[in-house]
Amino acid sequence: MELTAEQIWAANGSNEVMAHVMAAFGGPGRTALTFTPTYSMYPEYARESFTALVNVPRQADFSIDVAEALTAIHRDMPSIVLVASPNNPTGTAIDLDDIAELAAACMAVNAVLVVDEAYAEFRHKGVPSALELLGEYANVIVTRTMSKAFAMAGVRLGYAAAHPAVIDALRIVRLPYHLSSVTQAVARAAIAHAPDLQEGLGILRHERDALVMDLRARGLQVAPSDANFALFGVFADRHAIWQGLVDRGVLIRETGPQGWLRVSVGTPDENARFMTALDEVLANLSQGAVVVDE
Ligand SMILES: Cc1ncc(COP(=O)(O)O)c(C=O)c1O
Repeated sequence: MELTAEQIWAANGSNEVMAHVMAAFGGPGRTALTFTPTYSMYPEYARESFTALVNVPRQADFSIDVAEALTAIHRDMPSIVLVASPNNPTGTAIDLDDIAELAAACMAVNAVLVVDEAYAEFRHKGVPSALELLGEYANVIVTRTMSKAFAMAGVRLGYAAAHPAVIDALRIVRLPYHLSSVTQAVARAAIAHAPDLQEGLGILRHERDALVMDLRARGLQVAPSDANFALFGVFADRHAIWQGLVDRGVLIRETGPQGWLRVSVGTPDENARFMTALDEVLANLSQGAVVVDE
């Protein structure tokens, strides 16, 4: 999709883009709404901007119940709705039709809809981006980052694509000279070399799908993932599993809903080491009925 410069806003990480969105459209007396479990920083963005935050729970498969979402939007009258797709920590991508319905509902209550696509580059082929909705919905803001697929989190470069009027609103609240010319130069160089920097994406997607299948083959539940990690469980004592992996030199994230763990997709070798370690841990703990059958 072709975008003009007037539709793009760059800042120090998508974190700062979000801070600008909260400053422009949130604030005291206003509400943001999101769908949990989701990115752990959303409550921080809300707190720091004195914006109330409403959490609408996702369904058991971590998708969004659109009917429930529309009810909540009309009840709570948010000025900002935040949807991470693919979501962190679940990896779930939301159907574009569902996102369009949210955008229309947001339009009706004068809210912006932020679609946080930090993990977009990892999504399965054929999964559309919310960028496709920009022409139809002037209230949609799609955020992206160079922290994930470019593996450049330390560079701190995130960006938004939206209607030029929305970008103008973000420009009003930014600090003067917010983005250093060094950051801009590094980002431009990275974009020029994007195919090289992202050449591992195909392998990563393949490894991710293989990892999900391997975990499922062990009888574990795994959330469908369009990201570079997989959320798996459900464990009665997830900390014991996490600790067992650490003891074998494998560090994953003890995060997400109770009983679930999040593993990042690594190299084929790292993924194999993870599966071997997990098999050992599960075998050692098997007498304790560790795996919860939900
Ligand atoms: C869903 C989501 N959005 C945004 C971010 C923040 O990324 P950035 O480094 O661009 O601030 C993250 C980082 O983990 C994330 O998981």
